[in-house]
Amino acid sequence: MKDNFGREISYLRVSVTQRCNLNCVYCGKSDCTKKETELSPAVIEKLVKAFAHNGINKVRITGGEPLVRNDICEIISRVSAVEGIKTVALTTNGVYLAKYAKRLKESGLDSVNISLDSTDGSTYRHLTGADVLEKVFKGIDEAEKAGLSPLKINAVLMKGVNSDEAEELVNLAKSRKIDVRFIELMPFSENGENASLIVTGNEILEKFPFLTPVGSENGPAEYYTAEGFTGRVGLINPITQKFCSSCNRIRLLSDGKIKPCLGYDTAYDIMQFIDDEAELIEKIKEIIMRKPAGHGFENKTPSHGLNRTGG
Ligand code: 5AD
Repeated sequence: MKDNFGREISYLRVSVTQRCNLNCVYCGKSDCTKKETELSPAVIEKLVKAFAHNGINKVRITGGEPLVRNDICEIISRVSAVEGIKTVALTTNGVYLAKYAKRLKESGLDSVNISLDSTDGSTYRHLTGADVLEKVFKGIDEAEKAGLSPLKINAVLMKGVNSDEAEELVNLAKSRKIDVRFIELMPFSENGENASLIVTGNEILEKFPFLTPVGSENGPAEYYTAEGFTGRVGLINPITQKFCSSCNRIRLLSDGKIKPCLGYDTAYDIMQFIDDEAELIEKIKEIIMRKPAGHGFENKTPSHGLNRTGG
């Protein structure tokens, strides 16, 4: 359906848990292991059905880290079976991906995005608090084997922290059929609030002048390629090139609240209507109509961490 600003809202991001097995510096949550309210697979299915009635055709499962839920395959199979849902994707840190890749594919998952901010073991440990880089690489291999494509890597660069990792990350797109996307740091944590850490999309282009644009797809990433590259490099620039005017997304949080925009704390609770499909559909429609024009990061920092919204 179209929102108040004429944007076609077709993409739902579902955070299935706030828990995470990593503790990344930019995410904005101090205790990643605490278990808070999580929706059952059946409740998630009901909500996705109501969203599909309002024109949602793509769902991305996020967290926290979605693979910490041991019913993740049931969630995927219920969501992928909802009428009108054409694509189901997942964003993961990849640590448990080797174990799950094949089963996720069999459950109806189409593709995965893997968050990876460094290819160096000690930098990775510094950023995430865990010594698990090898597991992530294994996860990438298994996802590729399972046919979860297109395979995408998300990287957030921070000046003086992991910015010198850019080349190694770009090289992943050279040697393999992987899209490596750099996301500009958004203000979700103490580090994120420090604008001087941001590595902008333009700075990446200056560093790799051989990258040539190949356009964008149905999302915020601008893609680039280069001679001899198998995959692509993507730039997602929420800070220097706001893409709010073409935003097509809405978010379901792990506690069941619906969040119209990542940049605001506002979230609506419609759980009282969970057994009344007609009412659910109507409430979702109203919430979509309340989506703001833009994220407003330039004026304020949201008080929630990304673990609740999954980016
Ligand atoms: N700024 C930009 N991107 C972030 N992510 C997590 N925190 C931030 C932040 N502060 C990214 C992760 C993940 C994606 C969903 O969001 O890299 O891949």
